[in-house]
Amino acid sequence: MSLIQETDYGTPRSKSEEMVTLTIDGVEVSVPAGTSIMRAAMEMGTEIPKLCATDMLDSFGSCRLCLVEIEGKAGTPASCTTEVMPGMVVHTQTDRLKRLRKGVMELYISEHPLDCLTCSANGDCELQDQAGAVGLREVRYGYDGKKHPNPGVDESNPYFTYEPSKCIVCSRCVRACEEVQGTFALTIAGRGFDSRVSASMEEPFMDSECVSCGACVQACPTATLNEKSVIEIGTPEHSVVTTCAYCGVGCTFKAEMRGEEVVRMLPYKDGKANRGHSCVKGRFAWGYASHKDRITTPMIREKVTDPWRECSWEEAISFAANKFKGIQEKYGKGAVGGITSSRCTNEETYLVQKLVRAAFGNNNVDTCARVCHSPTGYGLKTTFGTSAGTQDFDSVEYTDVVMVIGANPTDGHPVFGSRMKKRLREGAKLIVADPRKIDLVESPHVKAQHHLQLKPGTNVALLTSMAHVVVTEGLVNESFVRDRCDWEDFQEWASFVAEDRNSPENMEQYTGVPAETVRGAARLYATGGNAAIYYGLGVTEHSQGSTTVMAIANLAMATGNIGREGVGVNPLRGQNNVQGSCDMGSFPHELPGYRHVSNDHVRELFENLWGKPIDREPGLRIPNMMDAAIEGTFKGMYIQGEDILQSDPDTKHMVAGLSSMECVVVQDLFLIETANYAHVFLPGSTFLEKNGTFTNAERRIQPVRKVMAAKNGYEDWEITQMLANALGYPMNYSHPSEIMDEIAALTPTFANVSFEKLDKEGSVQWPCNDQAPEGTPVMHIDEFVRGKGKFVITEYVPTDEKSGPRFPLLLTTGRILSQYNVGAQTRRTANSEWHQEDVLEIHPHDAELRGIRDEDWVKLQSRSGATTLRAKISERMAPGVVYTTFHHPKTQANVVTTEYSDWATNCPEYKVTAVQVMPSNGPSEWQEEYEEFTRKSRRIADTPEVIAAE
Ligand code: SF4
Ligand code: SF4
Ligand code: SF4
Ligand code: FES
Repeated sequence: MSLIQETDYGTPRSKSEEMVTLTIDGVEVSVPAGTSIMRAAMEMGTEIPKLCATDMLDSFGSCRLCLVEIEGKAGTPASCTTEVMPGMVVHTQTDRLKRLRKGVMELYISEHPLDCLTCSANGDCELQDQAGAVGLREVRYGYDGKKHPNPGVDESNPYFTYEPSKCIVCSRCVRACEEVQGTFALTIAGRGFDSRVSASMEEPFMDSECVSCGACVQACPTATLNEKSVIEIGTPEHSVVTTCAYCGVGCTFKAEMRGEEVVRMLPYKDGKANRGHSCVKGRFAWGYASHKDRITTPMIREKVTDPWRECSWEEAISFAANKFKGIQEKYGKGAVGGITSSRCTNEETYLVQKLVRAAFGNNNVDTCARVCHSPTGYGLKTTFGTSAGTQDFDSVEYTDVVMVIGANPTDGHPVFGSRMKKRLREGAKLIVADPRKIDLVESPHVKAQHHLQLKPGTNVALLTSMAHVVVTEGLVNESFVRDRCDWEDFQEWASFVAEDRNSPENMEQYTGVPAETVRGAARLYATGGNAAIYYGLGVTEHSQGSTTVMAIANLAMATGNIGREGVGVNPLRGQNNVQGSCDMGSFPHELPGYRHVSNDHVRELFENLWGKPIDREPGLRIPNMMDAAIEGTFKGMYIQGEDILQSDPDTKHMVAGLSSMECVVVQDLFLIETANYAHVFLPGSTFLEKNGTFTNAERRIQPVRKVMAAKNGYEDWEITQMLANALGYPMNYSHPSEIMDEIAALTPTFANVSFEKLDKEGSVQWPCNDQAPEGTPVMHIDEFVRGKGKFVITEYVPTDEKSGPRFPLLLTTGRILSQYNVGAQTRRTANSEWHQEDVLEIHPHDAELRGIRDEDWVKLQSRSGATTLRAKISERMAPGVVYTTFHHPKTQANVVTTEYSDWATNCPEYKVTAVQVMPSNGPSEWQEEYEEFTRKSRRIADTPEVIAAE
């Protein structure tokens, strides 16, 4: 194994289809028009010396190292800023150029500290490389010239350092922060020798606007900006390409290693989801894999009030299997079930649902998508015929109007958020529908044309009133609708939305959005060119979540914004493999590939290969499992990689359900909150310790590669296999590739997927089969998967959860950039320095009414329960609406959320809870009780140790 070196072409690829032929150093070369001479030379294998150029950034032309001679032209132009022309004759290496380049390098070196041997970038420094490339052998100005200012090293960021004395002022960092990340946190301050990089207003990085994405560190050609892990460990010696295990963007990284130690995670330019960019989580927050809280020995106990007892794998597996068998004998086949993980690989998820269906013999399997994107599955399957987003991420580069509904991409899907912002800076228009003034509404060089600041719970009213404008103002794309959609359904829908009661003027009473703003947004969406909708959990986690997804699909079909690049309907999936876990048959009514369990033909396919009958009745969903547990008919659960206690709504109901069971098996990295109610703990493995695949929000199946041995001894699929065997159902896979082969054999949309293909292509987007051997970047091009697109009537039904005198405010929840989901991983990294606790954002008016000041402790009370947290006074919320995150178990934000859910899928209504907020001086009764129980539950026999909760 060696370090994977990526070619740097110096300037970005030109998208032009016109080709230009020129001669470089006597060799004829053809490249797309708009290509720089530097890139054209590189494409034919000639590397022109460079310092300020890199192909992640537009050319800048400041260092003057890349000079060339062009026949018939005076002077020596910079090859990075000069575009190729037909017939051009270029020389990259002449005596004059050699002399000039050496002169430039002499100036750089004369003011650079020469501590190369002890520098952390020794061996990985472009300044060193270029000094070598130009043949620098002496520096006429000496080595003791005036150096760059050295105010000391800025170590404030937990992951990287800034050492100004090593800066060559190439501005690559500044440009990376602007062009790639879109944060605009850096500038060059001062002049001449005094010029230096400055974060915000000459602040330490940690106090500046920097969001720690790492783009500047990656761009820096010297050790000026450098990862602390490289400084500590040394430069890496080999690397492995793998996929981030945090969010649904699915960034590709090179895990750069020294032995079995990760030195750094570098975003991979060939990664088709991230194109070489990253966020603070994937780039830096991988330390949880070796955190002291990690459990690597299996544990069992009879009662959840007993201390844990460490044991062998054999004992733990047979203890769990015997319990499950005993429960089924006593209470019936349906008394047990399983939960698959959207953090685990496709292969692992597939095995868990196979275990439930073939070894347990029922369909009681569900997944965390129940609580996030199950309405996407229902809504898009009904309207388009398939449960997934329609585009690839590259598609946004061709979008003219971006509409973001109930999503906060710069926090939840940051790398895609950066790509979106880039397109907006290029001139695309933006509509944001969100109760909160999210960053996208107004950030450097980005401003939404329309912010539809609706009241939580009124998405359907808003979207139906936008459709009213489209239909009544003659903005329907009739030829698209007649050609591609069911015309009768359309007519019925069109007359429904055209009714006066659905006009923006009449819907304003519910949405709170001025009618003229809605009309403006609808006109822009319908007539502004290619329009694409991106949405998130602010759409799905409502009592009308599925209806909202269908209202989005209606709008896209009516305006013809489906079936080509730049348009579409795109759910931004939360967890790394939530798309995959749904694809793999994690729902109780669907086998892999979204095929209903009642379909005899499909069942037969699986039964033949699995050698077991499959129940034709759908099984229980997570909330139904809890109800059945409380009723006494559901007694055992196998939970892989999912903290249902913290992530699911109505925590007290969840506690009642889990406490009623006789055998809860938790397979995870840490003693998560759900493990407080578990009888068996099976230690799981991290993404760094396993092989397999994840599927991101664009349906892209990507390889996950093992870079180190599993600290717990097994990959998660092996643990499921051991449990299945102990239950008497044989599984004998020797590698996850064999599991993928089985998935491909049984699932038409995966028919051509294999590990071999992924090694060759890097990734593929399903469907990938004989009809689309290389995968499908854009769906529904000529026809919808279901044939004709289906318009569905979307009657607005206000949620039963209403504010009133007792609970006058509406609570909505979301996430923050530095933390991930329930925080089990990110809380065990330095990411916590950005977000140590959940806070309640409250409008100044609502705060003042209640006598609440910034940072005061407040009690947040709903009819379900109460919790306490600190207040943050913020105008991002409209008056009457409060907001919090749910990353910290101490807050237990879901104690407050209710049992209400989407009518079609049971997806919880997290986004609307009627609450009261009042000053408080301490934790709620529930928080105190829970903390005490947690302390007891985490004891380990024969050791004084209590495993940390945070
Ligand atoms: S880490 Fe990212 S956000 Fe921070 S300064 Fe560098 S490029 Fe900008
Ligand atoms: S910090 Fe690095 S990238 Fe930024 S100007 Fe200095 S040398 Fe260039
Ligand atoms: S968390 Fe998401 S955006 Fe960040 S690096 Fe990982 S996949 Fe990319
Ligand atoms: S690389 Fe062209 S001017 Fe710096």
